[in-house]
Amino acid sequence: MRLRNWLFRIFREVSLLFGFEEVDFPVLESEALFIRKAGEEIRDQLYCFEDRGNRRVALRPELTPSLARLVIQKGKSLSLPLKWFAIGQCWRYERMTRGRRREHYQWNMDIIGVPDVMAEAELISSIVTFFKRIGITASDVGFKISSRKVLQEVLRCYSIPENLFAKVCIIIDKIEKIPMDEIKKELKSAGVSEKAVEELLQVLSIKSLTKLEEILGSAGEAVADLKLLFSLAEKFGYSEWIEFDASVVRGLAYYTGIVFEGFDREGKLRAICGGGRYDRLLSTFGGDDLPACGFGFGDAVIIELLKDKGLLPEVNLEVENIVSALDVDLQGAAARVASILREKGQSVDLVLESKPLKWVFKRAARINAQRLILVGSSEWQRDMVSVKILSSGEQYEVKLDELE
Ligand code: HAM
Repeated sequence: MRLRNWLFRIFREVSLLFGFEEVDFPVLESEALFIRKAGEEIRDQLYCFEDRGNRRVALRPELTPSLARLVIQKGKSLSLPLKWFAIGQCWRYERMTRGRRREHYQWNMDIIGVPDVMAEAELISSIVTFFKRIGITASDVGFKISSRKVLQEVLRCYSIPENLFAKVCIIIDKIEKIPMDEIKKELKSAGVSEKAVEELLQVLSIKSLTKLEEILGSAGEAVADLKLLFSLAEKFGYSEWIEFDASVVRGLAYYTGIVFEGFDREGKLRAICGGGRYDRLLSTFGGDDLPACGFGFGDAVIIELLKDKGLLPEVNLEVENIVSALDVDLQGAAARVASILREKGQSVDLVLESKPLKWVFKRAARINAQRLILVGSSEWQRDMVSVKILSSGEQYEVKLDELE
């Protein structure tokens, strides 16, 4: 819990540093909110059930659909752009591996109302800032970036209908998880011709923007968006963190433009975080579309990475003062000392039972107390207590009204 609090504190600090406002959503939602037709893995991973009113409900596997619903609900009362962040618990029935859990927390940052790539550039900048704050460098992690428009442009050349697009993306996202023959079979049965499949797979292997431009030409949005993002990255100062990789498409149906994933350069772990642009999600819930982009960053993979790098922080319990009575009759007096200090904003661990001094010292060490305050009868008669500075061993008698 201490480690989690440390992590969440930095998630929050970074979000506030970028001017984002915190939001939250219900953990239990209508199942329909998470069901899309494209054959996503997330659908099979739902923790869902029927409630007492015979409604199908689900524990949220992600936050984005709830966010979209809230934006629709608030409608015109919202002033755009929205810059929202949330830290929420999510559930997915996954096969558990290192960094993958059935219950995890996700830090999300989303920008609603900005159609320009500047928004994606800002989001990546916030993740880079987070990494830097926890001691992770560009030689430890990187971002693979592409755009769904790359696939869209290839599919358009082969006159593949737009409504197949999300489905094709979901199949392609499985490339590293299932055999290539299987991928080809699925693409073909989705209605993509053999020739188009070959071309798609070829484009997906491209790792340079120049090469992409040679194949797609420079007139399309995919190349223009990506070039702009890479030039903005230079201005933000995080070029060394990012690389173009056409194979990144992401496994959620709703992305429409730039997509990105954070990965560890040693290649030992699953994606650290992921996100992208989703300009058409709101209309799938009956609202008017608004340009939107965001990311989700889990609490599990990053902890594994910090462990591997020896960067896990020491998050010790820290209480400023420990207060103990020297005999049982003075417990009320010790309580008064504790109250005085707490009113001054100082944290106090009050020893609640009559314990030997040796025990009190041990406890003081365990909670990393700075001061030990002992209430003994001879001092108390003079309205004084004994204060020991634990780091130096110095000891003073201090008047009650001078306790600061
Ligand atoms: P996602 O890629 O499904 O995207 O999840 C985002 C991140 O959540 C992952 O990169 C990983 O860090 C973490 N995560 C997901 N599943 C698990 C799990 N079972 N155990 C541990 N960590 C996990 C989304 O959820 C999108 N809604 C993100 C987004 C927000 N896109 C736009 N805005």
